[in-house]
Amino acid sequence: MDKIEKDRIEKLVSPGWFEYYDRIGSTNDVALQWLKEGAPDLSLVAANEQTKGRGRHDRQWFTPPDSALAFSLVLTDSLSADNLPYYTGIGALAVCKVIESVSDGKVEIKWPNDVLVEGKKAAGILVEGSWAGDSLSGIIVGVGINVTEESVPPQEELLFPATCVQNVSSKPVDRFDLLAKIILQLKLIREKMTFTQLVKEWDMRLAFKGEKVYIHNSDGEQISGVLIGLSDRGELILEEEDGKRGYFSSNEIRLRPFSF
Ligand code: BTN
Repeated sequence: MDKIEKDRIEKLVSPGWFEYYDRIGSTNDVALQWLKEGAPDLSLVAANEQTKGRGRHDRQWFTPPDSALAFSLVLTDSLSADNLPYYTGIGALAVCKVIESVSDGKVEIKWPNDVLVEGKKAAGILVEGSWAGDSLSGIIVGVGINVTEESVPPQEELLFPATCVQNVSSKPVDRFDLLAKIILQLKLIREKMTFTQLVKEWDMRLAFKGEKVYIHNSDGEQISGVLIGLSDRGELILEEEDGKRGYFSSNEIRLRPFSF
């Protein structure tokens, strides 16, 4: 990251703290530590390479050097513990909108927080909360994006096919330009959108709508049904075989289309 790029990002997150690491374990871990040290709203940790990148459900997240975008944004303002899906939605929607703006392909959200381009995963979001007793002290929105081909994990290690943003863009994609645009978009969504508007835009971009999918809940149960969309609370609605509608919150749920 050169000085111009650094200054641009610093301005966007100020007075939040900002650090760009060449190599780090996980940007989410640093951001969680920063929260304990009193980092203000919009503090940002970004890295060229992660050696212990984490994904949802304790999976590893691959972040080789010079090819991916990996960052964690600290949010501490106007937090609502009742509305945790909101932060997943903000992250997924901001990343989706920015990838849409640089890509020639179809960009969708695989609920709750994967961004697909042309049906393959190009980005993932890991939202983590930090608690002081019963009260929420901060949220970390961790974002990992495969930008160039080198950042796409080997296909045999994948549960779902993956791609990178560069594969669907006719122009060279700059990681730090993407980062600046996503931060701006996140700020805009948070300032201007109500939860209802956010859910509407999230729903509009939902992958596999009208298709048969299956989900696994945290008890290991598998439920299948047709994906209807999102409820006004950001839950996934599935119409099950018997015609009943099930409402599923994003915690601990894994979604798969039937064709996988
Ligand atoms: C997923 O798809 O499972 C979510 C992946 C989130 C990866 C990002 S990369 C930046 C931040 N630091 C981490 O260790 N994880 C998130």
